[in-house]
Amino acid sequence: MAKKTIVKMPGDGIGKVVLDETIRVLEAAGFDANYVEGDIGWEFWCNEGNPLPERTLKLIEEHKIGLFGAITSKPKDAAFEELAPALKEKGLVYSSPIVGLRQHFGLDICLRPCRSYKGNPLNFIRRGPNNTIEEPEVDVAIFRQNTEGLYGGVEWSNPPDQVYEALMTHPKFVKNFGETPQEELSVSTRIFTKKATERILRAAFVHAKKYEYKSVTVCEKPNVIRETSGMMYKMAQQIQKADYPEIELWNTNIDAQMMWLTKNPENYGVIVAGNMFGDIVSDGFAGLIGGLGFACSAQFNPDTGIGVFEPTHGSAPKYADYETSIVNPIAMIESACMMLDFIDENEIAAKIRKSVAEVIAEGKVKTYDMMKMTGRADVVEKGAASTQEMADAVIAKL
Ligand code: IPM
Ligand code: MN
Repeated sequence: MAKKTIVKMPGDGIGKVVLDETIRVLEAAGFDANYVEGDIGWEFWCNEGNPLPERTLKLIEEHKIGLFGAITSKPKDAAFEELAPALKEKGLVYSSPIVGLRQHFGLDICLRPCRSYKGNPLNFIRRGPNNTIEEPEVDVAIFRQNTEGLYGGVEWSNPPDQVYEALMTHPKFVKNFGETPQEELSVSTRIFTKKATERILRAAFVHAKKYEYKSVTVCEKPNVIRETSGMMYKMAQQIQKADYPEIELWNTNIDAQMMWLTKNPENYGVIVAGNMFGDIVSDGFAGLIGGLGFACSAQFNPDTGIGVFEPTHGSAPKYADYETSIVNPIAMIESACMMLDFIDENEIAAKIRKSVAEVIAEGKVKTYDMMKMTGRADVVEKGAASTQEMADAVIAKL
């Protein structure tokens, strides 16, 4: 197989350290690739007015596979404050580069697996009958529609006349908002297309079939958000009936799902949701398997073969300057395994996952989160493994 080139995008904060450690693991596991660095993140916003420079898009276009660390995002006004003075007159508006990347390349399929590792001290436990303690085994694959819905970016404060007039044609708008002055309105749209909805649903069913999950759950809110959530559920019913009768189709509302999360997480298999609810439910399940130090993701466009793989934790700027990095690299390592699966390097992925599982099961090497410490520079002195030590432990098992 020709040697792959991977676009590595450290991004902000701790992104760089988890990415570097992960590449060390990949190399130790025998994954032979070239790496080129893609600029992305806060620094490029401040200095160039664009957190996602054109040259980075070109690199991804060319090489197709991106490994991404983490990103710092700030609200519009705070972002403007930090812009280089020379750029302040240009009318630039900050928007999240990771959301931009998803949209630019149509990375509409986002997969976020949440699987508990045996022996992880952060695994969720609950009280069973007679005060017993139960540790349910969580194995959920969340499919998040990654480009549309509330992330579509179609929004206004003080909407323009044409938009306002269009809204005024809707009787509910007239009734509920018709008295509010136009300039006092903020509108964010939630647009779903049939095409993208079908793509995410089918991806979920294909996955359920391939990995023998017994159910697909549409996690939305069709009882209230009738058009978008309603369309998604209806399409899921059609797809299930026509093509996947052997897989059960469940339907939960996002609010109730968050409550059931701790009640019966072992009952769920594949979950599929729109963009925002997928964001929410994936963080919810990640909390059951160890939190953001364990939450990995893949986002890709099956048509172009472009994929970007990233941990779903943030950039944790407060930990970024520690001389010895303390953050847990497992989410990034797991994301790299998803990348390996995507490019058919399944054997190397399996080898790395096995090593991670062994390190966790053994319980000797634990980052501060796994030791339930508050993240501070002295956690390593107190016995927590550093980022590098965790990566070393995984490499030793390889
Ligand atoms: C995620 C993150 C992003 C999102 C942020 C950083 C824009 O929370 O990947 O889940 O909301 O999608
Ligand atoms: Mn999120």
